[in-house]
Amino acid sequence: MECATIKTGGGTAAGVLEQKPLIIILLGPPGAGKGTHAPALSQKLGLPHISTGDLFREHIREQSPLGQCAQDYINRGKLVPDDLVLAMLFERLQKNDCQRGCILDGFPRTLPQANALNERLGNTAQFAALNLDTPDHLIIERIAGRIVCQGCKKPYHTTFNKPRNPGQCDDCSGILITRPDDQSSVVKQRLEVYRLETKPLIDYYAQQPGVLAQINGQNTKEQVLSDLLESIPSENKFSSK
Ligand code: AP5
Ligand code: MG
Repeated sequence: MECATIKTGGGTAAGVLEQKPLIIILLGPPGAGKGTHAPALSQKLGLPHISTGDLFREHIREQSPLGQCAQDYINRGKLVPDDLVLAMLFERLQKNDCQRGCILDGFPRTLPQANALNERLGNTAQFAALNLDTPDHLIIERIAGRIVCQGCKKPYHTTFNKPRNPGQCDDCSGILITRPDDQSSVVKQRLEVYRLETKPLIDYYAQQPGVLAQINGQNTKEQVLSDLLESIPSENKFSSK
């Protein structure tokens, strides 16, 4: 992948530093706040936000062959097969905006996906896996009230994070909708899949020195964002925007 081989400028006062691309991996159960915080991190760090869930939903909206294939898995709360996810993700990572790294939201989600990412990037990228540790009762409450912008995908909540005008996105005026996979029976399935397939990634990244940071996802949005930023390796705390 190109982002692993390109020399990057740090943009610091001291001048251009050679720096490995930074791959931020947002870990956490469904509803933990990955999609809520990724755009702010993206803006602060000048790295693109890549959500595999959003990419799939875009394919579904366009009714592309990939979207048609992924739709059934997503609506049943199952994971899309690894080979489809990896092909889509690696294609996205080849775009120029990933030269300095990226923020991965919802990827990797299985051990084979994590291994494939490691194999692809080798030692040429720096990883930061940030786990939004959030209990089930909060997750269910958050997902039950979630509404998302059909246009820019920004998530809102009917109680915790209301839009200024009901039903309308603050940023792009898009229509706010409920995701089809947010109905309670599907959420239950997604949580089960998380426990079986994705939670083991916490141990996987804990075994890599200096990679994993635990963030308390129960805190306010402001506190969670501050804790996420605090956990980013300090040489990367600059913005290109
Ligand atoms: P995806 O879209 O990734 O769904 P998910 O992991 O289930 O995560 P969510 O989007 O539900 O939660 P989030 O953590 O982003 O929470 P949010 O910020 O919105 O994936 C969907 C499907 O696609 C998967 O089920 C699978 O089928 C497929 N897929 C995707 N990637 C895949 C992969 N790699 N492999 C295989 N299949 C894949 O927040 C939730 C709510 O809480 C919002 O309303 C928000 O306003 C509120 N909130 C957030 N933080 C706070 C806070 N601190 N305080 C109060 N409210 C808060
Ligand atoms: Mg999300």
